[in-house]
Amino acid sequence: MSNEMERLQKRIANSGYTSRRKAEVLIEEGKVKVNGETVTELGTKVKPSDTVEVEGIKLEQEDKLYILFYKPAQVITSVSDDKGRKVVTDYFKELETRIYPVGRLDYDTSGLLLLTNDGDFTNLMTHPRYKIKKKYVVKLKGYLMREEVKALEKGVKLEDGMTQPATVKVKNQDKEKSTTLVEITITEGRNRQVRRMFEYFGHEVSKLQRIEFGPLNLTGLNAGEGRVLTPHEVKTLRHLAENG
Ligand code: URA
Repeated sequence: MSNEMERLQKRIANSGYTSRRKAEVLIEEGKVKVNGETVTELGTKVKPSDTVEVEGIKLEQEDKLYILFYKPAQVITSVSDDKGRKVVTDYFKELETRIYPVGRLDYDTSGLLLLTNDGDFTNLMTHPRYKIKKKYVVKLKGYLMREEVKALEKGVKLEDGMTQPATVKVKNQDKEKSTTLVEITITEGRNRQVRRMFEYFGHEVSKLQRIEFGPLNLTGLNAGEGRVLTPHEVKTLRHLAENG
């Protein structure tokens, strides 16, 4: 797996089709096509997105990779930052394939973030039509009234429209500090949505962490750590997105 250009014979050999030596022979014999065009030049370089056909057989594209990452706070959900701040992909520099965040968490938000090189999967996970549940732990200033909980669950009118039904559970109230710890589960992923939902009632969010994404959670990971999703987990997420 690589996002770099690589020599055609290497790409063929890496696919497991044959050895590099035999791949060179096949190229010279005119048995290899790149994007439908026969290529006989041994030094030809190909991109991961190029389609390579050997003796009429299409080679598999780059392997798909899906990572569950525990994003620390004060990290940008992006692949680069013009202000030089740390970005999520800094944690995966050793990977040969380029991966991209699936949706985003704010700079100050920590928690579960998926990254992948599979664009279709990203669309499936982030499209508003597919309602994957996301659970957050929120620390907010002040106390949350019962009516506020009910209203948040039903939907509140933000500047970009009504929020979809949510589940809200008050976990703890700190009387001394006048703060409340809440768990909220939403199915949307609008910009700064959770913060805006609580701000609607004048509660500033002082801490926000995503603890679940569909069936996934952060078990076994510390902030800054990640793991590869199992094929079963990927399949389950796809299924959930497609079937609700
Ligand atoms: N809602 C927010 O307000 N911020 C996040 O990072 C995620 C959800």
